[in-house]
Amino acid sequence: MGKEKVGFCVVGGIVLVLFLGASVTSDDKRQRWRRAMISGETMASSMLFNRVPSSIVLPLHGNVYPNGYYNVTLNIGQPSKPYFLDVDTGSDLTWLQCDAPCVHCTEAPHPYYRPSNNLVACMDPICQSLHSNDDHRCENPEQCDYEVEYADGGSSLGVLVRDAFNLNFTNEKRQSPLLALGCGYDQLPGGSHHPIDGVLGLGKGKSSIVSQLSSLGLVRNVIGHCLSRRGGGFLFFGDDLYDPSRVAWTPMSPDAKHYSPGLAELTFDGKTTGFKKLLTTFDSGSSYTYLNSQAYQGLISLLKKELSGKPLREASDDQTLPLCWKGRKPFRSIRDVEKYFQDLCIELHE
Ligand SMILES: *[C@@H]1O[C@H](CO)[C@@H](O)[C@H](O)[C@H]1NC(C)=O
Ligand SMILES: *[C@@H]1O[C@H](CO)[C@@H](O)[C@H](O)[C@H]1NC(C)=O
Repeated sequence: MGKEKVGFCVVGGIVLVLFLGASVTSDDKRQRWRRAMISGETMASSMLFNRVPSSIVLPLHGNVYPNGYYNVTLNIGQPSKPYFLDVDTGSDLTWLQCDAPCVHCTEAPHPYYRPSNNLVACMDPICQSLHSNDDHRCENPEQCDYEVEYADGGSSLGVLVRDAFNLNFTNEKRQSPLLALGCGYDQLPGGSHHPIDGVLGLGKGKSSIVSQLSSLGLVRNVIGHCLSRRGGGFLFFGDDLYDPSRVAWTPMSPDAKHYSPGLAELTFDGKTTGFKKLLTTFDSGSSYTYLNSQAYQGLISLLKKELSGKPLREASDDQTLPLCWKGRKPFRSIRDVEKYFQDLCIELHE
């Protein structure tokens, strides 16, 4: 990367490609990848290594404002049925609200998923990967219980099953690989709850959909998303859709649990804020960007300075968030807001 800075901004169209070579390849392969990147070999030539020439592209629906989330439609089951899933790079497990029967389910756009009888065993590596932090005992060896909790307080509890995911590949083949997913029969809604059939887990762990597709040899372990500022966008798995030489690449920390480029600096309106070495995580499942309290306070005073003289006033009667502003007319989309607020970016220095 040389001395070039790589930046990610909060406002504006966001294209993000994450290359995840490390999580499923052997150590030997991992070393070769890293050498290829450091020696300045073009990405295109290193891509030839172990290449699986197919990808999956899925349209995304949603927006940053006013919805605050994106969903993707996946066809799952035999026969397959459509489900709307929350796209989450901040967690691994994909699960559906499930009629197992359901103890606590929340409102869903489609009828609850009816599980296949194909249970994931407790000793299965995918089950083990979900329990790497607790002292998990297999009370019932035929069954893998799971529980996921999210930052907004929401949770899902259930059992892992395998079922067919009906997917269109870019090589014009339609395939229905059996992938592990959670049959969630006990859900609690979180603070940012909205009606959804389940969560699409795209994290780095073994249970994530892209890790599973890659270990079946169907796509390379690469995910990307492109979110339009007008709302919508697309999500892709695999590496044969884009010209790698036109993508700015930055390594992800191998030790971090989530996708993290490591330590970054916060800039506002293209200028440094003085807040450096912030440990950064990419989480498509979170509507908000979170900062530590020092950086948050610092940013707020910059924002207030920036907004003085503009036709916005603080809306202390609005309790949605600790700080709200009101414009002359209601804001309908991110575009209406852009003219008042400068870009907030994180920059990585090599
Ligand atoms: C999810 O996307 C579909 C389009 O595929 C859309 O009709 C639906 O309203 C979205 N669901 C939610 C909960 O936003
Ligand atoms: C796959 O492609 C076919 C033909 O273009 C389309 O009818 C079908 O809905 C697609 N299926 C999925 C799961 O996207």
